[in-house]
Amino acid sequence: MADPRVLLTRRWPEAVEKAVQARFETVLNESDKPMSQAELARAMDEFDVLCPTVSDRIDAEVIAGGDRVKLIANYGVGFDHIDIEAAKAKGIAVTNTPGVLTDATADIAMTLLLMAARRAGEGERELRAGKWSGWRPTHLIGSSLKGKTLGLVAFGRIGVATARRAHHGFGMKIAYYARREADAAVAEKLGATFYPDLNGLLGASDFVSLHVPGGPETANLIDATALAAMKPGSYLINTARGGVVDHAALAEALRSGHLAGAGLDVYPAEPEVPSELLGLESVVLLPHLGSATVETRTAMGMKALANAVAWTEGRELPDRVA
Ligand code: 8YV
Repeated sequence: MADPRVLLTRRWPEAVEKAVQARFETVLNESDKPMSQAELARAMDEFDVLCPTVSDRIDAEVIAGGDRVKLIANYGVGFDHIDIEAAKAKGIAVTNTPGVLTDATADIAMTLLLMAARRAGEGERELRAGKWSGWRPTHLIGSSLKGKTLGLVAFGRIGVATARRAHHGFGMKIAYYARREADAAVAEKLGATFYPDLNGLLGASDFVSLHVPGGPETANLIDATALAAMKPGSYLINTARGGVVDHAALAEALRSGHLAGAGLDVYPAEPEVPSELLGLESVVLLPHLGSATVETRTAMGMKALANAVAWTEGRELPDRVA
């Protein structure tokens, strides 16, 4: 194929932008501002390969914007921001970047878990505000991890990687809820207990970490009823997608003291953060940093590039999701 045109909707790490430019006629979004829906729709007519991120909403209207794009090579593993059915209906292939962000995201889940358990956000805010009055036995007491149960909601790559850190690094017990039981060898090494029922897992866990994909199937999975099923004094960690949690109900569970804390990396309408959470000391709020290491962001770009190259050469797409 002669000179396929590729659009990167946001800036990528320089090394991967260069690698894409070396292979394709590439247009970069120099300003790095999110593109409008109209600009994305126009791009469908101007490029062969569109490389969006989680900050782009590739809905049916955008997809209907033109006929030239034949591959959407998403920069990221989650693809709930892309209307997969609309893409399929137009014969557009969609790929993602699995595997390369597993460790970075599991590290952020543990960062949130530790920060929430040890009240690190509260402590840092207090110190920077000049309000630290000095050491005392009762100051900012948190929770230990050793011997506590970490419940994973879904036990895919990132859930298992988080469980490994929690179990082997911090001595936590592991439980998980999933549609089906995990591979026996994986579960055995972690001593992981399987819960076929979500509420069962929630009631048995001192910490709950969410690892389900986003989208309509998991929207508000952790609602007021699910939060009520969690152990009093437990913690909720979310590195999956913001739409999985009802944040008004979460804020209420934190305010009432039913939950001791929470740690969030993702929100339903990023970059908006549900305002009811902002004034709560017991919630740690990160700006979607799950995959934000130079190694991971570079590897994600190389994966998107590999998919684009495979498509150009008529080979099977390594990470096809549609
Ligand atoms: C990515 C993520 O950085 O890959 C994912 O699904 O949530 C992030 O960590 C983001 O999606 C980039 O598009």
